[in-house]
Amino acid sequence: MGTSNNQKVAVVTGSSSGIGFETSLLLARNQFVTYATMRNLNKSDELLKIAAKEIIPLKVIQLDVNDDNSVNSAIDIIVKENDRIDVLVNNAGYDLFGSLEELTIDEIKGQFETNFFGVIRACKAVIPTMRKQGSGTIINISSLGGRIGLVPFLTAYHASKFAVEGFTESLRQELAQFNIDVILIEPGAIRSNFIDNSKTGKNYNPENSPYASTIQKVFEGFQSIMAESSHPRDVAEVILKAVNTSNPNVRYPVGKDAEYVLKIRTELSDKELEKWVRESYMDKKGFIRE
Ligand SMILES: NC(=O)c1ccc[n+]([C@@H]2O[C@H](COP(=O)([O-])OP(=O)(O)OC[C@H]3O[C@@H](n4cnc5c(N)ncnc54)[C@H](OP(=O)(O)O)[C@@H]3O)[C@@H](O)[C@H]2O)c1
Repeated sequence: MGTSNNQKVAVVTGSSSGIGFETSLLLARNQFVTYATMRNLNKSDELLKIAAKEIIPLKVIQLDVNDDNSVNSAIDIIVKENDRIDVLVNNAGYDLFGSLEELTIDEIKGQFETNFFGVIRACKAVIPTMRKQGSGTIINISSLGGRIGLVPFLTAYHASKFAVEGFTESLRQELAQFNIDVILIEPGAIRSNFIDNSKTGKNYNPENSPYASTIQKVFEGFQSIMAESSHPRDVAEVILKAVNTSNPNVRYPVGKDAEYVLKIRTELSDKELEKWVRESYMDKKGFIRE
């Protein structure tokens, strides 16, 4: 699979499920030559089946964002096959759940390895190609949780997404001279495999943790937040729109919940916002309150 007729080339990380899966499909359906990358190729069957049935330009290759060699060799293959990369979607990520006291430093470093250094690795791998061709769009999947430290027991996750936000803002300034755009996508709650793929700190024991009852309440409160969640396809559609726009925004919140919370954030003091957010999960009020 190489490019023809000026087809654009897109690379998506973490395409085995959720947002990455839907984004890879949508880009390929819109005639981007799409490399749906994933760390475990055993999870590629469904994507390949759909691509074959619809005859869309989608190829799956192995890429683990934690691994320099894996990232560099995947990008080398793509550049050899197409001589260009137009779009990189940094999507791979997970959340580490647990009280800070009960998380290990290694677990927290692991969260940053994927959610933050994974983004940096993929950016470093594609930038030389985009710089030489004088164009490109890098899409970083941040989160509503990259704008507001919404939820307790997600300290490392929030920190990793705040890091992606600051990194992106600076990188935008650095790459503008080469006509490379770097964009943030900020989804609210999305119905993907995200909760199932969530990691809990290994030192957490609900039998004797001083945090157990609060953690239980937060889990239950998530139900009201998930009731307002969006489909991963909604995120994919916003990504496609950003990629196809000549002068895209810096950041795109996705979902009614994300839009609502970011609006409320401008209207409340920090302490009022803290209380409001706490009520969203502790009192099961959800985020959207009209
Ligand atoms: N779901 C939400 O509510 C939500 C909200 C805001 C932002 N986000 C962000 O959206 C992104 C996608 O999440 P999702 O909701 O689509 O969740 P998901 O269904 O769990 O998908 C996460 C993807 O990341 C992949 N991944 C994890 N570690 C990886 C690694 N080291 N190398 C390559 N791929 C890796 C997973 O692969 P495996 O199948 O191999 O595990 C999976 O394909 C994440 O960055 C997440 O933080 C999600």
